[in-house]
Amino acid sequence: MSSTLFRTKNVEQSIQDTEEPEHALRKSLSALDLTVFGVGVIIGTGIFVLTGTAAKNTAGPAVSLSFVVAGVVCALAALCYAEFASTVPVAGSAYTFSYASLGEFPAWIIGWDLVLELALGTAVVAVGWSGYIHSLLDNAGWHLPQYLSGRDAASGFGFDILAAALVLVLTAILVLGMKLSARVTSIVVAIKVAVVLVVIIAGAFFIHGANYQPFVPKSQPVPAGGDLKAPLIQLMFGWAPSNFGVMGIFTAASVVFFAFIGFDVVATAAEETRNPQRDVPRGIIGSLIICTALYVAVSIVVTGMQKYSALSVDAPLADAFKSTGHPWFAGLISFGAAIGLTTVCMILLLGQARVFFAMSRDGLLPRFFSHTHPRFRTPYRPTILLGVIIAIVAGFTSLSQLAELVNIGTLFAFVVVAISVIILRRTRPDLERSFRTPLVPWVPILSVGASLWLMLNLPAETWLRFAIWMAIGFVVYFLYGRSHSRLAQRERAAAAGSGPASTP
Ligand code: ALA
Repeated sequence: MSSTLFRTKNVEQSIQDTEEPEHALRKSLSALDLTVFGVGVIIGTGIFVLTGTAAKNTAGPAVSLSFVVAGVVCALAALCYAEFASTVPVAGSAYTFSYASLGEFPAWIIGWDLVLELALGTAVVAVGWSGYIHSLLDNAGWHLPQYLSGRDAASGFGFDILAAALVLVLTAILVLGMKLSARVTSIVVAIKVAVVLVVIIAGAFFIHGANYQPFVPKSQPVPAGGDLKAPLIQLMFGWAPSNFGVMGIFTAASVVFFAFIGFDVVATAAEETRNPQRDVPRGIIGSLIICTALYVAVSIVVTGMQKYSALSVDAPLADAFKSTGHPWFAGLISFGAAIGLTTVCMILLLGQARVFFAMSRDGLLPRFFSHTHPRFRTPYRPTILLGVIIAIVAGFTSLSQLAELVNIGTLFAFVVVAISVIILRRTRPDLERSFRTPLVPWVPILSVGASLWLMLNLPAETWLRFAIWMAIGFVVYFLYGRSHSRLAQRERAAAAGSGPASTP
């Protein structure tokens, strides 16, 4: 049985599958499109919202160091992703990479994990977007009824109509075609980056040195009873759960890590890239470098403008300007954030439909989902299915803690990808790699260690939720994927000597 769990789909087979016309995606993206996609999905709720929470509750002004830590973890992972994406330029990202190296069962695990990451990530960002729109509407004196704003779920029925509507509109855009979405994205990304630059440049004039004192606030115990909310590492070593201090920098890093999620999604578009060998690594690494520089600058400026303990948790960048008596800047920033979050949502949605598509093309999920649209050549069936589910989830749920669940899922994917780089170098040294991760195996090993370290800094309850989701995934695989896998069918057909298996 273990041999079937670890059967691998060879790289040539993966590439060949993408060439079947009925299941093929249009190849239209360039390195610049990918970088724009990357920046479009990376800059979002993380910098616009989580910076405030992380500085206020866990790291103080040292949150800028948390961004550096998270950026380094992502850079190590990016070097591994880039090698894989340039070797296996097929939709599905880490899922496809691991199918080619680790085997079917690990690939299933990672695909299941990516669907969680991207689906919940989309919902988190949609709810964040709706918050900014509400605040803009409030400024204009327009108020949606409470039951349609979804923010008062505790007191009865609440449906966040704006978040749900955003997801549905974006789903329609994606079904209509990749190129259209890339064009829309570039305009929105330009607005978003401009707003971030305004924060950095205008905000620099309002920095007060005193706000940086103390830069690393002294460690403070967390009130008793919050054990499951404490980082797993603190529980493992029997430390009293605490915030701030040096450990607080890492705890905050595991939260603001959300701000970097998305560069891996660039890899999911490899199959739609004209020259993936050259352009995918450029797109991934380029977008990561741009975002890290912006994040560190923004967090230094914002914690210099306002005392960390006074930062707002809903709209910290805009509110920092309000605190200096410049509400006009605050409005502009809210507007830019609201526009910017749309692209984040759209690309996360795009990434997850691609992963689902790739899994169904392999037969691990029903093949029905892997037929592309006859005219638009987009994977419209999984896009519509997931879009509707996420719209409902985003409408009904308040998702702030779920950002941590998204982070653990993503970090887990990083671990698998880094291990896969080492394995594929050994099992397929012959493959052409236009981008090679430097210093293998050391960089992948460091990447595994760094990702695990951030995972351990996430709350124990996040680990528990993650374990439950993965357990459901095991059940689905053993009840469906294992027997319906196309690879399994081919192997059975070959064993019976009856030529290639037919597929529905
Ligand atoms: N990195 C994306 C964000 O910050 C997911 O919203």
